[in-house]
Amino acid sequence: MTSAEVVGVLGGSGVVGRAAAGALRELGVERLRLGGRRLEAVAAVAAGLPGGPAQALAVDLDDRESLAAFCAGCAVVLNCAGPSYQVRGRVALAALAAGADYVDVAGDDPAHEQLHGVDLAGLGRSAVLSAGMLPGLSGLLPRWLAGQQPGGAGRLTVWTGGLDRCSPTVAADLVLSLGGDRAGAAVPFGESLAAWRHGRRVSRALCAQDAAELPYFPAAVSLQPYLSTEAERLARALGLDELDWFNVFPGRHVRELLAALTGGRVQLGDAADRLVRAAELDLTGRRPYYRMVFALESPSGAATAVLGTGDSYRLTAAVGALAVAATLAGDVPAGLHYAAEVLDPGETVRRVTATPGVTLDVSHDPVELDAVVGAL
Ligand SMILES: NC(=O)c1ccc[n+]([C@@H]2O[C@H](COP(=O)([O-])OP(=O)(O)OC[C@H]3O[C@@H](n4cnc5c(N)ncnc54)[C@H](OP(=O)(O)O)[C@@H]3O)[C@@H](O)[C@H]2O)c1
Repeated sequence: MTSAEVVGVLGGSGVVGRAAAGALRELGVERLRLGGRRLEAVAAVAAGLPGGPAQALAVDLDDRESLAAFCAGCAVVLNCAGPSYQVRGRVALAALAAGADYVDVAGDDPAHEQLHGVDLAGLGRSAVLSAGMLPGLSGLLPRWLAGQQPGGAGRLTVWTGGLDRCSPTVAADLVLSLGGDRAGAAVPFGESLAAWRHGRRVSRALCAQDAAELPYFPAAVSLQPYLSTEAERLARALGLDELDWFNVFPGRHVRELLAALTGGRVQLGDAADRLVRAAELDLTGRRPYYRMVFALESPSGAATAVLGTGDSYRLTAAVGALAVAATLAGDVPAGLHYAAEVLDPGETVRRVTATPGVTLDVSHDPVELDAVVGAL
């Protein structure tokens, strides 16, 4: 695909935005516009892109006029700026007002809540939310896996996590996703300890576990059950009887800090700074890695998919770029979507696993789940 239409990448100097701009060039998008508040930072990224320099613009998404100027003339705006719990649908609304389609590597439920009343189909425009690794690929990969199993899905167990740096915006999003009474965190992202049982979320179905030995993780890890809203949508779409989802924490600094921050009143900037430092401490002397493991038991047999990467931010950028390419190609119908529900699972899995450093192993051996899962 080669596209001469303008794609705007908001947050183009961030960890995800930089990688997304590179991925878009690799997908044949020639005309890129990168934006962020610090012009020198986006200009440096724009100047170094493969295939020639991109346009760089100073833009503050909190300033209505500068955001409108950034979106003007774009065919698609890819939002890589956050925190998404504070941005919500603001960038999407500016993109739509400028006549552009929209993709967000995050956005998630807070953006959906603000946008679901907008008649995107009537406008003939599309918005694709949660087009990252998690949420995003985390909803596409199990759909693809279930599609390989004749006879329907039964029980799915998922482990996602690893050791990685934490960018300032991811840290802020994580703090805000802990919920409570913090400004901007009114829309829940999921429920800790909950699991899916026969058509509904069941609170306190699972318990946390320390020092768990998981076959797919290189060292002992802590497991925190967490049923996200994306996981609930997945369970409904696949008609799962049971879904257990565990966030995996190989490092104790991030895990202990998240536990300490949950439920209490915190100052966002301070908590986010502490999270960035905790991730650095967990990474000290170790190589970054991330794993997503999906173990499916269906009436026709078992299948386990293990996706690995050394750079979860680059994987997020790859998914976001593919969502933009699908939008430009006309493969996304007008309307408001989550990426996992509108992108082609097989095509997305095939293309992201072609990204350097990404591995996917699929086996059909049943996993001894009860040996590793501490169910109540
Ligand atoms: N779904 C997933 O799996 C996944 C994974 C990783 C990240 N994400 C999401 O991706 C987003 C970006 O993460 P990141 O790691 O790339 O963050 P980051 O490295 O902190 O970068 C943030 C970018 O946004 C820009 N920005 C911040 N505030 C802005 C504003 N008011 N107006 C315009 N630009 C602004 C920043 O530049 P300036 O500071 O110069 O403005 C920077 O370019 C976050 O929402 C994060 O939660 C999703």
